[in-house]
Amino acid sequence: MLTEVTATRYVTPLREGGSLPGIVEADDLGTYVMKFTGAGQGRKTLVAEVVCGELARRLGLRVPELVTIQLDPVIGLAEPDQEVQELLKASGGLNLGMDYLPGSIGFDPLAYEVDPAEAGRVVWFDALINNVDRSWRNPNMLVWHGDLWLIDHGATMIWHHNWPTAQSASAKPYNASDHVLAPFGPDIAARRRARAAGHRGTADRGRRRGAGRVAGRRARLREHRGAPPRVRRRAAAARRDDPRPDHPRRADQGQAFAGSRLAGGPPGAAAAPGRAGQEDRAGREGRRQVSTERDVFEYALVRVVPRVERGEMFNAGVLVYCRAKSFVAARTHLDEAKLKALDPGADVVGVRAALRAVEGVCGGGDGAGQAAGDDAGRRFRWLIAPRSTVVQPGPVHTGLTADPEAEVERLLDLLVR
Ligand SMILES: Nc1ncnc2c1ncn2[C@@H]1O[C@H](COP(=O)(O)OP(=O)(O)O)[C@@H](O)[C@H]1O
Ligand SMILES: [Mg+2]
Repeated sequence: MLTEVTATRYVTPLREGGSLPGIVEADDLGTYVMKFTGAGQGRKTLVAEVVCGELARRLGLRVPELVTIQLDPVIGLAEPDQEVQELLKASGGLNLGMDYLPGSIGFDPLAYEVDPAEAGRVVWFDALINNVDRSWRNPNMLVWHGDLWLIDHGATMIWHHNWPTAQSASAKPYNASDHVLAPFGPDIAARRRARAAGHRGTADRGRRRGAGRVAGRRARLREHRGAPPRVRRRAAAARRDDPRPDHPRRADQGQAFAGSRLAGGPPGAAAAPGRAGQEDRAGREGRRQVSTERDVFEYALVRVVPRVERGEMFNAGVLVYCRAKSFVAARTHLDEAKLKALDPGADVVGVRAALRAVEGVCGGGDGAGQAAGDDAGRRFRWLIAPRSTVVQPGPVHTGLTADPEAEVERLLDLLVR
């Protein structure tokens, strides 16, 4: 049986896939990712989440603890976001919850390496449950304290949506070509051998690309291993006084750190007000001429939200796309002090790797991994798609530039560094 808790606070929506789950706090003071019965995907996806999540756990794969959450729809009455309000009002009663893993980073195959045995176990499991939702565009895995965790098993057991054809559907071979772990050479036979030998655990572990593991993390993990995350987190919270220094909570969180630079104005910024009026006609025409050589570009900031449930963020990179020149590029810069200020326990190596992966996708070629076949525009659209994890894109804005490459550097200096 799953533990039952009662929702006491709606924290934030998670806009990534389609179902609009949200982080909620419950009466046991735990935080959970809540999957709503009122969501368009329907209850069967939640049934699949429970069946496959618990199956994975029994097979020794890491899945955050599942609970049921009682929701009093009255919580939704004062919620200003119409979409969220409707979801809450339509989901009174029992819903599904998954223990929220604070500071976990969305799995990115360019940032994290998985050994073939572990990749084999996950692909084998996804074939068993017919999971169509572990593609590189939608990995549904998190990296937390250096380990791989599986989430979101709603799009599995597809056959249970149509029982008359279930038999034939379940006999179809599983197509793993689009699987996010396909490039890691999944060793399916290892999985089979391990099962035959009665092995259930996940002893083999992945590792960060290009970076060793942090020794302290290993030790910390060993200390808490075995206990469910919810228990570990609460035990840790009870043991320590929060080491976090007083954090100024700012209304303008997105610009919390970039603000001082903006206030001072960018180097070589536009002319002071009134100046244009003093310009002579030739000057204005000259400028107009230059502007015709400029192309439209789109850009977005790459932001780091060390603790999604707190919402504080800072800028750590910029993405620029210029359609006319088929140009896309990203430049990132991680200020470790800012990261540590917002989350003393942040996974610095993981965040750095995730930022580097964004640059890799823009750079194209081998560094772009499974996105290598996409043109510049598709790679940009992919990177600006909403994400609710630690590294996420901001809103897209537009401008004109004669030199997109220089624009990337200029915006990095202006908005990030
Ligand atoms: N247990 C969790 N801990 C931390 N973040 C989570 C957890 N579950 C989901 N998320 C975040 O929320 C996003 C959406 O959740 P998911 O279960 O994939 O729902 P859907 O894809 O149906 O919207 C995930 O991609 C991930 O960034
Ligand atoms: Mg998902």
